[in-house]
Amino acid sequence: MKTGFSVFLAAFVALGASCFGLVYGPLKQLSGAKETTVLQSDAKWPQQRTGEATLGEQVYRANGCAACHTEQVRQDGFAIEVTLATLGTYKPEDFRAFVHSLFIMPELESVTNAIAASLRDWKGDLPKTFLVTADKEIAGKLVQSVTVPGVKAQLRLVAIGPDIARGWGPRRSAAADYLYDQPVQPGGLRAGPDLANIGVRAPDVNWQLGHLYAPKSVVPGSTMPAFRYLFEVRKAGAAPAPEALKLKEGFAPTAGFEVIPTAEARELAAYLLSLRANAPLLEAPFTPVFSGKP
Ligand code: HEC
Repeated sequence: MKTGFSVFLAAFVALGASCFGLVYGPLKQLSGAKETTVLQSDAKWPQQRTGEATLGEQVYRANGCAACHTEQVRQDGFAIEVTLATLGTYKPEDFRAFVHSLFIMPELESVTNAIAASLRDWKGDLPKTFLVTADKEIAGKLVQSVTVPGVKAQLRLVAIGPDIARGWGPRRSAAADYLYDQPVQPGGLRAGPDLANIGVRAPDVNWQLGHLYAPKSVVPGSTMPAFRYLFEVRKAGAAPAPEALKLKEGFAPTAGFEVIPTAEARELAAYLLSLRANAPLLEAPFTPVFSGKP
């Protein structure tokens, strides 16, 4: 009996301590999480959602979107991109020949094939990324060597990994991204694409509404279920209502009827547009592309 009790006690302590650790560890790490700032700027991160988007988060939850979609971008590491920004008066062929003449440099030996391949069919469009490498020194040497009057090349820190290659975001998700999420819905299954950055990828609210009403109308062959009950099909007045969906043939209701998004559909679309995990942070850095676009 005595051993029975000590076995129970030992098991209780071992399981109890690990459970406590599982709850207490994250609590200690994250309960004090606060707004941070975007890297090299004064902008606060993340931004509080609008009221409509905050309501939309609950619509997202209620409709089980997280069963098929994640909101977490993964990353394997970093690479350095060497990008040609200006070409001065040179022609693309001149630049290509010039870069080829640098291939005798022993430092560039390991990357000559990659550079040659990226410049092979280049027509002169700028900015042109002509090397992505994990080696800081090679990248630095290359920029130094191609910089002649009129020609400007830049180094850019980029995040790499399969999710980033799919265009799901410019960097991995960080804890700060979820600060205003209640509840946090990172999801665990990807029947559809990751949505952490969908507000940047598909910023048109009408596209979002059309997609929710009839996914196939905007993405041919889509297997996403249609969320028709978030819309109301009603008799059209003399003039169509401004908020009525503009649907392609084959998806539009019978003549004389129109599809109106309910408040829930609008809130959900506002929430989707608020998903924009695209700012560089201290814990997830990258160099943004300065072209006016994020
Ligand atoms: C049964 C699985 C499933 C469910 C549930 C689901 N989706 Fe999807 N979703 C998909 C698939 C598959 C795609 C890819 C095809 C497409 O774009 O339509 C997709 C695509 C999307 C896209 C476009 C993504 C992109 O990168 O272009 C958005 C936005 C989206 N879903 C939002 C939602 C929302 C909001 C909900 C909940 C109301 C939801 N989905 C529920 C499977 C699902």
